[in-house]
Formats: sequence, structure tokens, C-alpha cells
Amino acid sequence: MKAPQRLQSLIDEGMIDAVVRQLMSGKEATVYVVRCGDETRCAKVYKEATQRSFRQAVDYTENRKVKNTRQARAMAKGTRFGRQAQEAAWQSAEVDALYRLAAAGVRVPRPHNFHEGVLLMELVADEHGAAAPRLNDVAFTAEQARSHHAALIAEVVRMLCAGVVHGDLSEFNILLAADGPVIIDLPQAVDAAGNNHAQRMLLRDVANLRDFFGRFAPELLHTDFGHEIWDLYARGLLSTEAALTGRFEHKRGAVDLGGVMREIDDARAEEAARLLRLQTPQ
Ligand SMILES: Nc1ncnc2c1ncn2[C@@H]1O[C@H](COP(=O)(O)OP(=O)(O)O)[C@@H](O)[C@H]1O
Ligand SMILES: [Mg+2]
Repeated sequence: MKAPQRLQSLIDEGMIDAVVRQLMSGKEATVYVVRCGDETRCAKVYKEATQRSFRQAVDYTENRKVKNTRQARAMAKGTRFGRQAQEAAWQSAEVDALYRLAAAGVRVPRPHNFHEGVLLMELVADEHGAAAPRLNDVAFTAEQARSHHAALIAEVVRMLCAGVVHGDLSEFNILLAADGPVIIDLPQAVDAAGNNHAQRMLLRDVANLRDFFGRFAPELLHTDFGHEIWDLYARGLLSTEAALTGRFEHKRGAVDLGGVMREIDDARAEEAARLLRLQTPQ
């Protein structure tokens, strides 16, 4: 196909030889299959902030590392320079997370390059070499569902041990490759230790896995790996070897007032983002 404008500079720089086809156009990015020498790769082109949904408007940018205070002030004020800085931070967050997670042994696409708002990475493929399907497009036996669920819980633990919470983990952001599930789509990933919303995001990620695989293996619907994992993490006891039961005893008694207030703030922010989304033509 004719190369889209946004990929032209990567062709000029010799990072891409040809654009094979468009794979997907989602809310936040358009993904292409490209040729690089004798390899087939995947190019993720981020949309401009105004065209994107407002995932990041809620809580994902909290505590994101910025280089200097001028940048931080500009981001807080929402000036043009600030918006550009925020945009760059959002896009590079995905590359950062991919490198960090690959180093920790989590199965994510291998990143190759990040250039002018385009992420060049491994094309996650099925056994025929074609782009792998999303979990959402595949049906499973109960046994397969149990096995993939267990493998993905182990990946969530490995991510958390590396200090990362995905934040948008679901059957839409996991591909089924020839060698098993691969986690993708990480621009909203957060630092587990430095973000007040990390716990809520982890619980939601784990609940999404439970609800999806629970359709094929209903006994999974009674598990509570999320609280168990977070509890171990908070007590400094989480490791990739930790034996998990899927059960968690919820303590009664002392109320965590700070936690309750955060939940309320979160719900408010999410509702504000939802309204914003409704008002914005996509
Ligand atoms: N590395 C990859 N290999 C194969 N397919 C991919 C890869 N990355 C993304 N895709 C495809 O592109 C779609 C959109 O990518 P994603 O990273 O989830 O962006 P979005 O923010 O638009 O959801 C995915 O659902 C998947 O089908
Ligand atoms: Mg996605």
C-alpha cells in the first residue's frame, strides 16, 4: 500500500522498507504491518490527543515522571507547550513499559524503535505468521481458559514485581500468539509504588481476566486473585514464586477513610471523563 504520511519519515530514515497493510484503527492509535529488511513488524501510530479517547484524563498521568519543573508546570496549566509535553510523556510511556516488562520476563511485543510518535515493535503472530487474534475473538474450552487465566495471573504478578500495573488489561489487549498470550497496549501503565490509583487499577485488570475466562470456566468467577496479589505486594511479600490460592479474607473493622475518599474521587473523575467523551465527536 501507499505509505501513510505519518510513516514516511521512518521510511526516509531507513527504519521501514515498506508498509504492507493497515491492521487496525482503534481509538488511540492506528496499527500497520510493515516490512523491515526480511522481517515483518508492527508500527503503532498514536493519534493526536484531540482524536483520542480520554483514558489519560482520569488518573493515568498522575506521578508520571517529567524531566523538569518547567515541563511539569506547563503540563499542569495545560498550555500548548504543556500539552505537547503531556503528549510526549503519554506516548513514550508505552515504550518505557515495554522495555521494562521485557527485561522482567513478561511476554510483551519486543520493542524495536520509537520515532516521531510511531512505535516499531515485533508483530505478534499466530502459528501461520499472520497477526495474532485478540482473546476476545477466540473461544476456549474450560481447560484452556483455566490454563490461560493462570498464565496471565502469573504475568500480572511478574509485572507488579517489576513495579508496573497495566491499567487497561482485558480480552481486547491480549493477543493469542503461537506461543501463548501476549500482553499489549501499555501507554496508560502506571508505576505501582508511586500512584494512588495503582491498587484500583490492578484490581480492575485482574477482575477483567476473571470475568472473561469465567465465561468458559465458571468456577473462576469465585476467585479473588486481585486482593490476594495486592495484599502480598503491599506487605512486601509478593514474588514470582508466591503460591496463590485465589481466595482472600476481607478484614472487617478499621475503615480506611483515605481509601474510601480516593474511591469517591476516582468515581467522580471517571464520570467527568465519561461526560467529556460523550461531548467530543470521535
Ligand atoms: N505488536 C502487535 N502485533 C500484532 N497486532 C498488534 C500489535 N499491537 C497492536 N496490534 C493490533 O492492533 C490493535 C490496536 O492496538 P492497541 O495497542 O491495543 O491500541 P489501541 O490503543 O488503539 O487499543 C490490537 O487490538 C491488535 O489487534
Ligand atoms: Mg487496545
